[in-house]
Amino acid sequence: MDQEAYLSMLAEDDSLVYEVYEIKRPEVAGELMLGLSVVHPGRIGREYFMTKGHYHTVLDTAEVYYCLRGEGYMVMQTPDGDTSVESLRPGKVLYIPPRWGHRSVCTSRQEDLVTFFAYPGNAGHDYGTIEQLGFRKLVVEGENGPEIIDNPRYRS
Ligand code: PA5
Ligand code: NI
Repeated sequence: MDQEAYLSMLAEDDSLVYEVYEIKRPEVAGELMLGLSVVHPGRIGREYFMTKGHYHTVLDTAEVYYCLRGEGYMVMQTPDGDTSVESLRPGKVLYIPPRWGHRSVCTSRQEDLVTFFAYPGNAGHDYGTIEQLGFRKLVVEGENGPEIIDNPRYRS
């Protein structure tokens, strides 16, 4: 959201925001892709560190996340304009139905947000749509903790 904060932070230090560890399986229907996503704590301006976010290239494929550690949110939306933001806490299982783009956001101050994920082998990742349009909702630090706001830079 905050381009000025982004550019000044990048000029100072190219810090690692998140890591993904995946068990590579053939990218075909019938297989499952499994792995861990680790989003580190931090912010750019008021906006918490997060994953790039994507739709699945085969839009009609689902995904399941299981939160192992940390606190945060899964920001989700459909191409039709529906939105949903669900909290993530250790022990929570989150089902992302077919057609829902998704991004995880770490809101812990010191702890990584660690999630296990599984999705169909043929799903693929469409990053371009989110790169061009953004997500409709953002998670930012407010006076009393995380707040969900409309993205002022969303391109409809
Ligand atoms: O497929 C998924 O949803 C995960 O494996 C993500 O790829 C992972 O959490 C990293 O996010 P992104 O792919 O948006 O960079
Ligand atoms: Ni996915």
